[in-house]
Amino acid sequence: MRLGIISALAEEQHGLIEAIEGPCKRTHGMRDYTTGKLWEIDAVCVLSRIGKVAAAMTAAILVEKFEVTHIVFTGVAGSADADVNVGDIVVAESLIQHDFDASPLFPRYQIPLTGLSHFETDVKLSERMAGAGQQFIEHGLANVISPETVQTFKLNNPRLHRGLIASGDQFIGKPGQVTQLKAALPALLAVEMEGAAVAQVCFELGIPFAVIRTISDKANEDAATDFMHFVKTVASPYAFDILQRFCRA
Ligand code: ADE
Repeated sequence: MRLGIISALAEEQHGLIEAIEGPCKRTHGMRDYTTGKLWEIDAVCVLSRIGKVAAAMTAAILVEKFEVTHIVFTGVAGSADADVNVGDIVVAESLIQHDFDASPLFPRYQIPLTGLSHFETDVKLSERMAGAGQQFIEHGLANVISPETVQTFKLNNPRLHRGLIASGDQFIGKPGQVTQLKAALPALLAVEMEGAAVAQVCFELGIPFAVIRTISDKANEDAATDFMHFVKTVASPYAFDILQRFCRA
């Protein structure tokens, strides 16, 4: 396995580059790709930046130029379900581009010529990622997040969920926005801005992939403030510990 690891922002991947043994940095298309060994796994780490085009480009370059065989995307997301709370983890089973609409030429959400609206993640990779996430909740969280931070963000009883994540080129936080998305896609657990783009690229190139997201906000009017606080304090320790458990599994 040669594993590509993508996050949108530096705050979501802090510490990972430093953990790479024998790092070699190459810049291509305005992004830094760092190759090396990550806990015995041959890995390439990169920040995609925000949005579907940025993520799609990064995934394609990882495959075509850096020859990764598998991709995982790790980062934060907004909750789209009353039972999914800040600090919970969502491992995607499938992803959809919620802002894609070529109707009436094609059904709403369907990506033309693929015949698909939902792109499924790799079962084995997602299983391994969910295992790492669950272990983090049970054994890791208390070691890497201070009791004060646990209290501030109410991280006492986080849970892991598996299901549908939707991506779009919009930060969801306006009144009614998430309610509308949930009404259209009742199975929806979380919203973000990259995963489904990576999913489409991986589907088209035949690359197994997984997406794991920590919930930073409830995609409501407080979302932007909650997101900023969460990514500054909590996102990286979560991602770092989970990826370490994933690589060592
Ligand atoms: N990533 C984290 N929170 C988000 C939100 N509310 N909307 C879109 N992407 C997000």
